[in-house]
Amino acid sequence: MSLPEYYYNDDTNSFAFSTCRERWPKILQDAIDDVNATSAHLQNDSTFANQGQEIVKGISQIRHELETDTPLSKFTDKQVAEVPGLSSFNATLDKFLSSNRYDSKHHQLSWLSAPWLFTECYLYRRVDALVKTQPKWVNYDIFHNLKQKSFKSSAVAVYELAKRYKALHEETFSKLNNPIDLEFGKILFKEYIDVCLWGNKIDLSLLANKSQNEVHSGQSAKARQEAEKNILSNDTEQIWEYLSTLPKENKRIDFVLDNSGFETFTDLNFALFLLDTKLASQVVIHCKTRPWMVSDSLIKDIDILLNDLTDANFFPESRDELTFTHDKIKKYLESGAISLQDSEFWTIDLDYWNIDPSNTKYYGAALYHELSKSDLVFIKGDLNYRKLTADRKWPKTEKFTKAIGPLASTGLKIVALRTCKADVTVGLPEGVNEALIDKWHKETDEIGELWSSSGNWAVISFSKGDLK
Ligand code: F6P
Ligand code: MG
Repeated sequence: MSLPEYYYNDDTNSFAFSTCRERWPKILQDAIDDVNATSAHLQNDSTFANQGQEIVKGISQIRHELETDTPLSKFTDKQVAEVPGLSSFNATLDKFLSSNRYDSKHHQLSWLSAPWLFTECYLYRRVDALVKTQPKWVNYDIFHNLKQKSFKSSAVAVYELAKRYKALHEETFSKLNNPIDLEFGKILFKEYIDVCLWGNKIDLSLLANKSQNEVHSGQSAKARQEAEKNILSNDTEQIWEYLSTLPKENKRIDFVLDNSGFETFTDLNFALFLLDTKLASQVVIHCKTRPWMVSDSLIKDIDILLNDLTDANFFPESRDELTFTHDKIKKYLESGAISLQDSEFWTIDLDYWNIDPSNTKYYGAALYHELSKSDLVFIKGDLNYRKLTADRKWPKTEKFTKAIGPLASTGLKIVALRTCKADVTVGLPEGVNEALIDKWHKETDEIGELWSSSGNWAVISFSKGDLK
């Protein structure tokens, strides 16, 4: 089967085009500013400050390469020896270079013309490799301050969710001996799946050119109701049908997280609902091993989130409700009903078609075996969706189960919960893409195709893993 092309950074109709020309330089500059500010703060530690300056120099160099569109260089042997996963990037660069596309003089394998998904992953690993070479900065998260600022600014939605959870717990969850009544369970399941979906509207890499208000506007219950019609492909019925008919005991549900702060808070609320109502007996949460795409969650970000919930300076209102939610999460973590994992796989360049027993070199096999133990895996967000679909130019009407390639036949039960912030979107009814192109162009005067990168629309897509 011949596969559709990737989205490339020189596709003028793609969000890739402005992303690499406008957003990435801004993200790099923000990282430089952050390191400078942190160094200035700790001025009396000259080693720390000097190493900080090395990081700043390195990031400025990356920015220069990007802006002058140089060819993508490989990670050095030393870097690969220290962080083995980087060899995957080098192997992919070799693979690209040997493909027909780069025989032609029209296409260089350079920052502004290489495949979008690969280059974006490569960018974050270049920055991470720089930070990791400075011993005093090894554990420094260059995006920590931004993540915290964003979480704090989503306070109103955090209060709303915590109040809702406490009320539901008191009225219903605390009185349940058996799994929840299915009719009521379905209504709440739908509510929490929507909360968790629109929680993904937050993505700090997008804040590079949007105001915080614009992004946070999607978080309230009212906004979610209004946005219902914007879920262009919605498999919630089928997911519920599957989940509610599973055997009663030992149900494991996994979440492959995306962004920290508010989105992770929505994921944790969904997890509480599933555990309290006995729709799940175990929830496993998958995090990144390193700072990624600005806002993604590492295991330590969950600790930070829990601390923020207990901090009355951070979240001054709804203290009872926040403490209640915090304590419930903590209890489930302590009992092991919620557990946290991370894997190097999530931050290499490979798409999720590599979550497969054959991928023994780059962690895909281990992850496959882990996810096989799950009854349902929620995969959150835009970048994860791009990796599920390999970020290829699928027709918008393509079936989700086709666009995720071999994953649809691995037995893994997967749900993608994603607000659309990039070009690739599948599962749409005939005619919807054309209508949205027209609408977006008329309303914004932008290229119509960019509707799919605006974050205003979303998809909830299910694969049972049983495609023959
Ligand atoms: O497409 C825009 C973008 O910011 C990409 O740069 C990145 O793939 C993605 O969205 C991050 O979004 P999310 O946090 O939902 O994965
Ligand atoms: Mg993200």
